[in-house]
Amino acid sequence: MLTNLEHIGLAVPDLAAATALYTSLLGVGPYKTEHVASEAVDTVFFRVGGSKIELVAATAPDSPIAKFLEKRPAGIHHVAFEVDDIEAEMARLRAEGFVLLSEGPTRGADDKLVCFVHPKSAGGVLVELCQSIAAKQSNCI
Ligand code: CO
Repeated sequence: MLTNLEHIGLAVPDLAAATALYTSLLGVGPYKTEHVASEAVDTVFFRVGGSKIELVAATAPDSPIAKFLEKRPAGIHHVAFEVDDIEAEMARLRAEGFVLLSEGPTRGADDKLVCFVHPKSAGGVLVELCQSIAAKQSNCI
């Protein structure tokens, strides 16, 4: 089950400039910055009420964010939904015909297990499913 609009991911070419801009816009600084080696990105997270904004910048030319910014201007890159059981949601979406970008969940930023749904099967929007690793572990107890 999808339980929450967890965050919106914004692709940015200059993380320091975007962090300054969003700090001004939101009136509060980020609560976390994190490098995600598997995606070759640096991320900066802001809390906005019960949701978050994730700024994502490439750290290598072959990063998915670098490729995204070759084709499009900076802006919304993905919409992330929190799920209560990521494997169950992946199976449900596969059965519904959605194309997932990984066989199983992978380790994402912000202590999450994540999976992405291909934009071609989701109305042109890259959709992220995420489940907090702490919640996952407590489910298993
Ligand atoms: Co994200």
